[in-house]
Amino acid sequence: MKERMLVDYGTVFPFLTDEDWHRVEPLARRALEDLESARGPGSDFLGWLKLPARVQPEEIRRIQEVSAEVRQEAEVFVVIGIGGSYLGARAVIEALGPSFPIVCSRNGRGRRVPWIVFAGHNLSAKYLEDLLEVIQSKSLYVNVISKSGTTTEPGLAFRLLRRHLVDKYGREGAARRILSTTDAARGALRRLSDQEGYRTFVIPDDVGGRYSVLTPVGLLPVAVAGISIEELLEGARSMMDVCSLRDMFQNPAALYAAGRNLLASKGYLTEILVTYEPRLQALAEWWKQLYGESEGKEGKGIFPASAIFTTDLHSLGQWIQQGPRTILETLVHIREEEGSLRVPEDPDAQDGLEYLAGKAWTEIQEKACAGTRIAHHQGGVPIFSIEVPRLNAYFLGQLLYFFEKACGVSGYLLGVNPFDQPGVEAYKQNVFALLGKPGSEERARQLEETMRNLPRNRFV
Ligand code: PA5
Repeated sequence: MKERMLVDYGTVFPFLTDEDWHRVEPLARRALEDLESARGPGSDFLGWLKLPARVQPEEIRRIQEVSAEVRQEAEVFVVIGIGGSYLGARAVIEALGPSFPIVCSRNGRGRRVPWIVFAGHNLSAKYLEDLLEVIQSKSLYVNVISKSGTTTEPGLAFRLLRRHLVDKYGREGAARRILSTTDAARGALRRLSDQEGYRTFVIPDDVGGRYSVLTPVGLLPVAVAGISIEELLEGARSMMDVCSLRDMFQNPAALYAAGRNLLASKGYLTEILVTYEPRLQALAEWWKQLYGESEGKEGKGIFPASAIFTTDLHSLGQWIQQGPRTILETLVHIREEEGSLRVPEDPDAQDGLEYLAGKAWTEIQEKACAGTRIAHHQGGVPIFSIEVPRLNAYFLGQLLYFFEKACGVSGYLLGVNPFDQPGVEAYKQNVFALLGKPGSEERARQLEETMRNLPRNRFV
């Protein structure tokens, strides 16, 4: 049997009683059953549950063929998308890529990979102007990812990049360099892609944005980065059985979901995803979207935050150690960190650190992790530790599937639909109305009235 990641909940135990666990056990079982038999809310969006086993070999082959072409032809690969349409790809690419990507760098296996940049996830003019400047003289491919095809940020960024490509390569040349990932039949991007002859990849109907990392939404950019999508999927597949076990104490996803809900019921309403590996920053962003958008509704939910240690021990560390006891920590702990670097001897340095000369950086980090964990535990912070053997595509696949499955169970335990996001619409509709979108006139009028009745801006 292959290795797998483990969830250590030893440091959560003292914060919960046996009675708590017994109370939640049947509820977790029910949540799991509802999820797997599609009896719960949002059951039209459960395609992700079986996705690791469902992706067809032809689709993998096609993604690999196209990504090989991109690696060969492009110096820069721009991935346009927002929310669930970019965070998963970014999480995997940054976790497994070099810390300092440079144009046409080579990945760990010496493969040539283009510089992968993300766009369409903000409305900053400066960001896009800077992007246009750096790609000016570079050979370029673009992957536009949008299920609806009408999301403002990626829609506007794509207009700009499409214009850039047409100016540079002509309409046909641009069409060859634009890869679109969208709905099979519906939506504006599907229509445009068919009209212009772009190569397209399909986002399945029954998979929502934040659960789509193992569809072409994530797989295509990840393959372009030279990362094995087969290993990623294999890792995810290897978690499917254990994350379906009905016995909560044998099922890491159910146990994590149950534990964090119990802690929330006792007032631990902020969860900080912590890692010591800066390359996992984007994974933390993916996790925040997954849990934030899935659970934060109807006045419920645990607020998902993140921290990179030891960096943030020098900023948030004080709060974590001694602030209000309302936080829980979920540590993603990589057991075998990469790197053979050792501390050089330097008797002249006068920094009091000579006792570390000759020690491996990875050992120092490990001790920092152990020391911090004990301090936080003693300071009253419950800690789940997700023990990942090594940082590679296989274990990352396990981690992604584990968090998705736990999120589904956790949402049902909380009593919400973890597969919708009604709250995201409110701001969007306001922005459309304020920008004068046809059909939004009545909303614009109401907004103006609301603004008139708001307390006047006060400046000091
Ligand atoms: O998780 C989600 O559903 C959202 O974050 C969407 O992915 C995001 O709003 C982008 O939507 P679209 O792919 O339609 O452009």
